[in-house]
Formats: sequence, structure tokens, C-alpha cells
Amino acid sequence: MDFKKPSRFDIFVHTLASYVLMRGAYKKYVDTFGLKGDEEVLDFGGGGGGLTRHIAKRLLQGRGHVTCLDTSEAWLDVARKQLRRFPNVRFVCDEISNLADAGPQFDVIAIHIMLHDIDREFRQDIVSALSRTLKDTGKLFIREPTKEKHGMPADEIRQLMTNGGLEEVGFTEGKLRFVGPTYSGVFLKPPRTEN
Ligand SMILES: C[S@@+](CC[C@H](N)C(=O)[O-])C[C@H]1O[C@@H](n2cnc3c(N)ncnc32)[C@H](O)[C@@H]1O
Repeated sequence: MDFKKPSRFDIFVHTLASYVLMRGAYKKYVDTFGLKGDEEVLDFGGGGGGLTRHIAKRLLQGRGHVTCLDTSEAWLDVARKQLRRFPNVRFVCDEISNLADAGPQFDVIAIHIMLHDIDREFRQDIVSALSRTLKDTGKLFIREPTKEKHGMPADEIRQLMTNGGLEEVGFTEGKLRFVGPTYSGVFLKPPRTEN
């Protein structure tokens, strides 16, 4: 699929998967974030907003916000339509490097089934930029498929995060319907130590 210019069929299939068939799995994953409700959250590569929706729901009571960032206007249009009833969602079509210029701004970052789609040569710059947008003691949650044909190895994710200054504080390996084996990692941005 060309993610920048999805066909109507692509949009139909992905929306059906993320809002209907995998809805329970998406919700369960967001439950693991332990959100209090007042956080600033980034859903990086949020696409049609299937995961963003569960994050937004969690943040409604506590007046937190979620930014659904994607480089595809076509997917953001889907998300805008699906999430029109959530006043606490910001839709941003931009490169993460541009947000990183504004410094740390998020308490939590989610990366869900998207980093493996990015060409390997760009992944480190993206993860390092994401790390710059994360506040000290903020957490990054990532879930990616690990199949060789369609996925990326867990050790590559760990290396990208370590190089970006993040520490793995937890992980699980599982299996997701329609996706296959996955690695889910939780990474912490350690507090800066004063000299
Ligand atoms: C497979 S979809 C996943 C969407 C969503 N995270 C989910 O789990 O349903 C991958 C998304 O990543 C977006 N994407 C690809 N490269 C990106 C980049 N460099 N920055 C932000 N988003 C990107 C694509 O446009 C697409 O919407």
C-alpha cells in the first residue's frame, strides 16, 4: 500500500481493521499506558486514528490532549472524520523533526505498527527526534511486528531507542491477530543529572 496516497479500498480495509476487528486489541494496548488523564500524548503515525481514539477517551476527564501526527493528509482526513466528537485531539501533518525543534512537550509517545514501514536509513533520525519531544521521565510505548518479511527485529528497536537516549523499562512479546508476532517495548527518558 502507498501510505501517502491510500486508495478508497485501503482506507476501508484499514478503518475496518483498526475500528472494528482490532478494536479490543487497540483498547487493551492503550490500557497498558496507565494514563491518568491529564497528559500530553503524541500518537506518532496515528494514521486513521484507531489508536488515537482510545487515547483521547482516556484523556477526556483529565483534560489531557493527544496529538495525532502523520505525514499523510489522506489518513489524517480519515482520523478527523472518525474523531470529530473528541475536542481533545490535535491533528498535525508534519515531520517529527519540525516538532522536535520546539523541544520536550509530550509526557507519553505511542508508536503503533508503523516504524517498520519507514526505510531503515531514516529510522534513527526519527527516533532521536521523537526522544527530543519527550519530557524528562516521559515514556515511549512502541508495538511493532517482528516478522522478517513484514516487521523489524526487537533488537533493532532497542538499539534505536538506546541511541536516542531512552532506556527500556519493560517489554512483552506477543501475537496480534492480522499482524503476527509483535514486540511491545516501554522506554523511559531518564531525568537529566546536574553536574
Ligand atoms: C500502518 S499505519 C498505522 C496507523 C496507526 N498507528 C495504527 O496502528 O492504526 C502507518 C502510518 O504511519 C504514517 N507514517 C509513515 N511515515 C511517517 C512519518 N515519517 N511520520 C509520521 N507518520 C508516518 C503513515 O502515513 C500511516 O498513516
